[in-house]
Amino acid sequence: MMIPQDIANTIVDPLAYAAEKPIDKAFKFLRKEMPLARAEPEGISPFWAITKHADILEVEKQNELFHNGDLSTVMTTIEVDKKMRQLMGGSPHLVRSLVQMDNPDHMAYRHLTQAWFLPQNLKRLESRVRDIARVFVDRMADMGGTCDFAKDVALYFPLHVIMETLGVPEADEPRMLKLTQELFGSQDPDLNRTGKKMNFEEAMAAVQETVGDFITYFNAITEDRRAHPTGDLSSVIANGQVNGQPLDHFAAMSYYIIAATAGHDTTSNTMAAGIWALAERPDVFRRLKADTSLLPAFVEETIRWATPVKHFMRSATADTQLSGQKIAKGDWMMLCYPSGNRDEDVFVDPFAFSIDRSGNKHVSFGYGAHVCIGQHLARMEMRIFWEEILGRIESIELAGEPKNSVSNFVCGPKSVPLRYNMI
Ligand code: HEM
Repeated sequence: MMIPQDIANTIVDPLAYAAEKPIDKAFKFLRKEMPLARAEPEGISPFWAITKHADILEVEKQNELFHNGDLSTVMTTIEVDKKMRQLMGGSPHLVRSLVQMDNPDHMAYRHLTQAWFLPQNLKRLESRVRDIARVFVDRMADMGGTCDFAKDVALYFPLHVIMETLGVPEADEPRMLKLTQELFGSQDPDLNRTGKKMNFEEAMAAVQETVGDFITYFNAITEDRRAHPTGDLSSVIANGQVNGQPLDHFAAMSYYIIAATAGHDTTSNTMAAGIWALAERPDVFRRLKADTSLLPAFVEETIRWATPVKHFMRSATADTQLSGQKIAKGDWMMLCYPSGNRDEDVFVDPFAFSIDRSGNKHVSFGYGAHVCIGQHLARMEMRIFWEEILGRIESIELAGEPKNSVSNFVCGPKSVPLRYNMI
């Protein structure tokens, strides 16, 4: 079954994700009419669009049958893929982090930092994260009742948390922010290095330059942590061993890059979407202020609502069948997370924001062997931030039209103008 051309073009269109409605409409159509079908958008290799929640879980569960590393893990054009392979000696990937690995490497490399990311270890960070949250809440109070929450708060709070865990000094944070935004947001002219809409070649050049900057930066951190280990995440990476050997240079750099990038943009987007939802729902705001035990449910719903990671790709390692469709060895597949999170078979009234969902089984963190390693950190940061702000804020409303960033990979609100009263 072939997806109609206009729908196929929409589900890869960065502008459609920014506008939200076209993407919701396209996925709603696909879930109902052709939940697992081939798409052939112009200039892009054919792929299967996996739009049902159950099928997304099925693919993610079978990580030997559906690989991450054989083809590009993110949506890319035929032209960019060709250039990337020329650049990377045949590999479709710019970096080799957990995301691009399959077993046995994936398991071995994931094991290295798994314990660091577990809730028991993260508890040690809780009071420091609360201090950081308070600084941002104070900053909002100092701004005198108006701010752009996306730009003034959501962008910097998770950035500061992850940079502290990596041991990046505060003075270098703006540089790290810029680098991350270019890696994830290079389709948005407001966020990329040149400040104008780039064609794919220019975007590739900017991303390559960005990765080069990261490597120079984290080389210095590796040397420092080998000489003076501190127990932070960078020390775990710099001194870690896989199969009895220290990480090779490329793998170590890729590890820093995935932690430094995945670790904040996703959370920033979720927080910005969360305050936007709150500003439009005074009833939810009142309920949360009266009863902070509702916060974990609120956090979970903001993660479903925002779905900041729009897709990851997999490829089949053998001929197989999925939901009655024949999938051939080597076929490329798009896990459509925003669609899974609006699946009518799993979520009651999926287009409503509700903190009363029981067992919110969203797929925003993925599933299976690659499920987001930072999910407990993200939840903790956001719960603490909402606890702190709800204790201080009396009223909140939108002071302008929020705007989303333009990307088909990681995106969310880049501007949420707010008016509020604080004590
Ligand atoms: C709301 C915030 C976040 C969202 C929505 C999110 C989402 C995701 C998703 C969808 C995946 C891929 C899962 C899969 O393939 O099944 C992933 C993987 C990953 N995430 Fe997150 N993430 C968030 C926060 C974080 C944080 C705070 C970190 C901290 C460093 C982090 C680090 C990673 C890493 C290292 C991976 C690769 C794991 C692997 O392939 O084994 N993420 N994340």
